[in-house]
Amino acid sequence: MPTSNTTSGGFPHVRMRRNRTDRWVRRMVSETTLNTADLIWPLFVIEGQNIREPIASMPGVNRLSVDLIVEAALEARDLGIPAIAVFPNTDPDIKTPCAKEALNTNNLVCTAVRAIKKKLGNEIGVICDVALDPYNSDGHDGIVKDGEILNDETVKILCQQSIVQAQAGCDIIAPSDMMDGRIRAIREALDGGGFENVKILSYAAKYASGFYGPFRDAVGSSGALKGDKKTYQMNPANTDEALREVAGDIAEGADMVMVKPGMPYLDIVRRIKDKFVMPTFAYQVSGEYAMIQAAVQNGWLDGDTVMMESLMAFKRAGADGILTYFAPRAAKLINNR
Ligand code: PBG
Repeated sequence: MPTSNTTSGGFPHVRMRRNRTDRWVRRMVSETTLNTADLIWPLFVIEGQNIREPIASMPGVNRLSVDLIVEAALEARDLGIPAIAVFPNTDPDIKTPCAKEALNTNNLVCTAVRAIKKKLGNEIGVICDVALDPYNSDGHDGIVKDGEILNDETVKILCQQSIVQAQAGCDIIAPSDMMDGRIRAIREALDGGGFENVKILSYAAKYASGFYGPFRDAVGSSGALKGDKKTYQMNPANTDEALREVAGDIAEGADMVMVKPGMPYLDIVRRIKDKFVMPTFAYQVSGEYAMIQAAVQNGWLDGDTVMMESLMAFKRAGADGILTYFAPRAAKLINNR
């Protein structure tokens, strides 16, 4: 295919730098934009009142008690962030092998969601993870029996967990567990419960990644986890398999799909977006955030620059939005530019 270079004879008629001389022209020819509507803010909720507990491996991120989560939700709304995702830090004493706290209608997540919805109604979307790891004494996303992560038994509980969260007011159910068949089962459970409009954002291509380490500190599951998650999360070596995962979840009823982690997997984002033309999200996970923050704290990188560059990279790769711990900070920069 002829390029503009060859058709017009190339240099010196063509000077690529001409379109970069000033900020206005750089903006005019920008192929990708990053808006506050592209940001989803993950939040960690903890028991108590007026508690803001720093997470050592995620500088700048805190676990918040429900009252402060509501304030964070207000901040998100005011910044133009469309949705937040709520993750619980569960007291280790209430974790059990059957993860029964996942089904407690008064668990931390449900309490937080009710409080957010009471204050904000439909002014912000609330996303809840569906998986058992915050509640499971084994630290796994599913029920463990003799060292095996049980699929079908886990899916039954995930359906109940979804209903409990929908009843609390959750707008988007986000299964992050990677069990087979859970999207269809959850869709049927939600529809059966009268929650036809509750959406499913499937963690469709979720890899068994070392980049989740700081998150597991944040929710307190790292101490609990026995072994690894390689029998259900994907092998980082695979990309065709990601397309099969996504195709399956779409067929089962996913409204949106997600790739996770983010930056090391932008090739996967691009393939999925091109092939399925579905709303496609990517998660800039805790370890990615931690890497950037660690370098910034050492004075090795400029925080705002690499934050915005990393988020733009997601958009350029085809993501419709990004789950990122940088969401409020990026939104402030976007709103002030
Ligand atoms: C739980 C879950 C994880 C993350 C989101 N949901 C961790 C895991 O699968 O071990 C990771 C998010 C992050 O690292 O920021 N299933």
